[in-house]
Amino acid sequence: MKLPAQGLGGAEIAARLAAMRADDPPVHGGRVLAYVYDAGDPAATQASLDALAGFGEVNALDPTTFPSVARLENDLVGWGLDMMQAPPDAAGLVSSGGTESCILAVLAARERWTSTHPEGRPVLVVADTVHSAFHKAAHLLGLDVRTIPVDRTTMRLTGAAVRDALAEISDRAALVVASAPSYAHGVVDDITDVAAVAQEHGVPCHVDSCIGGITLAYARLNGDDVPPMDFTVPGVSSISLDLHKYGFTPKGVSLLLFRDAAYRLGTYFAFSAWPGYPVVNTTLQSTKSAGPMAAAWAMAQALGDDGYRRAVRDAREATLRITAAIQGIPGIRVVAEPDTTLIAIAADSTQSVDPFRLADAMRRRGWSLQPQPSLGDLPRTLHLTVQPVSLGTVDTFTADLIEASDEVRGLPWIDVSADLEAAFANLPDLTSGAALPEEMAGVHALIDALPPEVRDPALMAIFSALFTARR
Ligand SMILES: Cc1ncc(COP(=O)(O)O)c(C=O)c1O
Repeated sequence: MKLPAQGLGGAEIAARLAAMRADDPPVHGGRVLAYVYDAGDPAATQASLDALAGFGEVNALDPTTFPSVARLENDLVGWGLDMMQAPPDAAGLVSSGGTESCILAVLAARERWTSTHPEGRPVLVVADTVHSAFHKAAHLLGLDVRTIPVDRTTMRLTGAAVRDALAEISDRAALVVASAPSYAHGVVDDITDVAAVAQEHGVPCHVDSCIGGITLAYARLNGDDVPPMDFTVPGVSSISLDLHKYGFTPKGVSLLLFRDAAYRLGTYFAFSAWPGYPVVNTTLQSTKSAGPMAAAWAMAQALGDDGYRRAVRDAREATLRITAAIQGIPGIRVVAEPDTTLIAIAADSTQSVDPFRLADAMRRRGWSLQPQPSLGDLPRTLHLTVQPVSLGTVDTFTADLIEASDEVRGLPWIDVSADLEAAFANLPDLTSGAALPEEMAGVHALIDALPPEVRDPALMAIFSALFTARR
C-alpha cells in the first residue's frame, strides 16, 4: 500500500474501508450460516462495539498497570465458571479465541505429563471429528496424536473406544479431548463415559465446548434436556468456551476453564532473567488489546441472563424447524440429530443431491452454507451455524432449500478426480482481490478429490497466493 502524502480525514477513511467490505457477506441478519453469530439485538451489539473501541488501546499484557484488565477477566471467567457449574477451586483465563484456548488446554496437559515423564513424547487422544485446533496444538507443542473414529451411527466419541486407545498407548496419554458439540456434525460426545475412562487411567479430559458452551448452559437453564458436558461430570478437567461465538461478541475472546487452579499454572509463562520488564503471560500473546474482553463484558451486561435464554431458545427452535424441513426434502438428510444449534446436511442414500451443488444453488438465493469435504467414509456435508435471528428467516430458508434441492437433484456430482491438473488450472484467480465466483462447487470438489497428503499443501499454496502483497 502507498500511504497518502497527506493523511486522510475520518469520513474518507470510513468510505474507503466500507468499499473494501463491499464484497463481504453481511455479518448480521442470518443469511451467512457459519463464522458469524447474530443475537438479533442491535442495541446490545452497539454497546459491545463501543466497548471494543473504548478499550482497544488498553494493553491487557499488564493488569498491574491497567487494573480494569483483571476486573474484566475475573468477571468473564466467573460467568463461565458459573455456566459450567464449576467447583469452588476452579479457575480460568481469557484467550483470544477457540484455537488459542485449545492450544493452552493441550499445553497445560503437556506440562503435567512432562513433569512425571522426563523422557518420551506425550500423546493427545482425540476423535476423528475433533476440531483441527487440537491437531494444530499437537503440531506446535510436540505431541503425537491418537485419532479415534467416532461411532458411525451417533457420530459421538464413546468411552469404549477411548478405553481401547488408552490401553494401547498406556502411560503416554497426556490428554483426552471430547467435544460439546463437534463443529462438523453438531453432536456432543459421550462425555460422561469418556471422562470416566480418562479418569480411570489418570489422564485429564478436556471438553471442547468452544461453540456449544453457551448454548448448552442456557438451554439447561431453559429447562431443555441437555447432554452432560460440564464440571458436574467427574473426570472433566478443563473446558473451552468461546464468547465470540454464541456469546455474540466481536471476535477475539474465549474462555479456558480448569477444575483446579494448580492445573491452570501449566499455561502460564514467566520470565524475568532479562534486563527488561519481568514478563508474566497467561496466554500465548503478550501485548494484547483489552477491547475484546470489554466488548464481551458489555454484551453480557446488555443481553443479561434473560437475553441469552431468549437467544438460545430462538436459535434452538430454528434448528429444530430446519432439521424437520431437511428430513422432508428428498435427496438430503441431517448427519445426526443436532444437540445444539449446528446442523450438518449430507446426501441421503439415493445420492441424488450433491451438497456442493446445493451450496451454490443456495448461494444464488442469498444464503451462505459452509461446504465440508469428505474424509474417508465420512461424507461431504454442508455446515449450518443456526443463530437466534434464524428464527425469523426459517420459512424463507426452508422454502429456498426445497427449491435449491429441486434444482440440483439428479445432476451428476461434481467430481474432478479424473483430471486434477485441469481442476487446478480452472481455479478462480484469488490474487485479483475480486469477489469469489458464484460457482464454488468445482473448488470444493477439487479439495474433496485430493488425497490427504496433497490436500494440505495445496490449501497452503492457495492461501499463499491470496496473501501475495506487492510493494
Ligand atoms: C468446537 C470448536 N473448537 C474450536 C474452534 C476454534 O475456534 P476459533 O475459530 O475461535 O479459533 C471452533 C471453531 O468453530 C469450534 O467449533
